[in-house]
Amino acid sequence: MSPLRIGIVGARFAADLHATNYRPLRPARAELTAVCSRTREEAERFARRHAIPRVFTDYHALAASPDVDVVDICATTDMHHEIAVVAARAGKHVIVEKPLTGAFCDATEPRDAMLATALGNADAVLDAVAKAGVTLCYGEDFVYAPPVAKLRRLLDASGGAILELRAEESHSGSHAAYARRWKSAGGGAFLRMGSHPVGAVLHLKHWEGLRRRGRPVRVRAVSAEVASLTRLPVVSGIRRHMSTLAEDVEDWSVAVLTFEDGTMATIHSNDITLGGVRNVVTAYLTNAVIQANINPNTAVTAYAPDAAIWGDEYITEKVETKAGWQYPSPDEDWMRGYPQELEDFVSAISERREPLSGALLAREVVEVIYAGYLSAATGRRVELPRP
Ligand SMILES: NC(=O)c1ccc[n+]([C@@H]2O[C@H](COP(=O)([O-])OP(=O)(O)OC[C@H]3O[C@@H](n4cnc5c(N)ncnc54)[C@H](OP(=O)(O)O)[C@@H]3O)[C@@H](O)[C@H]2O)c1
Repeated sequence: MSPLRIGIVGARFAADLHATNYRPLRPARAELTAVCSRTREEAERFARRHAIPRVFTDYHALAASPDVDVVDICATTDMHHEIAVVAARAGKHVIVEKPLTGAFCDATEPRDAMLATALGNADAVLDAVAKAGVTLCYGEDFVYAPPVAKLRRLLDASGGAILELRAEESHSGSHAAYARRWKSAGGGAFLRMGSHPVGAVLHLKHWEGLRRRGRPVRVRAVSAEVASLTRLPVVSGIRRHMSTLAEDVEDWSVAVLTFEDGTMATIHSNDITLGGVRNVVTAYLTNAVIQANINPNTAVTAYAPDAAIWGDEYITEKVETKAGWQYPSPDEDWMRGYPQELEDFVSAISERREPLSGALLAREVVEVIYAGYLSAATGRRVELPRP
């Protein structure tokens, strides 16, 4: 079978993650044939770094290119749905980074209108993909992270049932410019980072439901709180070590999800956590407890009294210092599931099957998070329409 020809939209952080993690698939199963960003020099630099022959500054042209079979969307979140629809209409398969989409408006917009807009954007993508008969792959790496994959196997092996899932992604703040404002990010810590733990727990309940009853168990109701803790008057004038640049988006969130079968999940996502990225998923079963530590994990622990001892050697994402006890990830991309995710996407598209992380998950993550924003704004639990 000839390799799938991938065109990447975006040429910075997420695009780099993807291009790097396609390497094991190149050249036999995937070829990187094109890259697009509005800044030509940046796209050209990216193309040189990753040996990509064609550069575009307009994603419409990349999607229309006969050299592209799959459009891999690593652009800022506000552009995901528009690019995905254009790609699907051009007959191209779609890989889209998390979150699928959102509501990109003024932060003061009513949350019920945001929920409707975000779901409208999500449905536009799902409709375009269905009409074109192409595959939608949703870039939720937690689904593929080896600790979560092991959790899934242990869940199957236990024969037990999930009572509660607890999951978190937190760190000390994004450096990306788009993440500062609701208009470009569609929300704060809850959407930007919470989409990972929400994606993980939804996936696990979909999985459990399919195994036990032949259909995914979905979320029935959401309660949430959000806050901007680093901007509270009580901490003004106190030196903080967080690097969040949030302007009109929250930096802290907690959500409680009730599933259709009455079981529960709790989600933490915030920009106030020092000490490196915290990516964890815990399953409380009727007969066992399983904790998946994507980050930090103790595969390697290292101590140095002085940060300079490690020189330029990478330790782990977002640690503020290399001194003291550390948890250096031996292969962070692998531990976070990026190569496994891209391998499944390339296989799914080639085999014309659904990827493990696909359209159902992508849409429900958007629904749950914007229902959470509505709950936080109104102080009430939001019930989701379910057949
Ligand atoms: N799975 C993960 O762990 C993970 C990690 C990080 C980010 N992400 C996701 O990946 C996405 C990108 O994040 P990032 O951190 O890479 O953002 P970033 O550093 O701001 O990069 C965004 C890229 O999108 C390009 N872009 C924006 N609008 C465009 C348009 N209309 N046409 C073509 N290119 C366009 C930008 O280039 P120009 O400005 O030159 O157009 C830039 O190259 C976000 O949705 C984020 O949620 C996922």
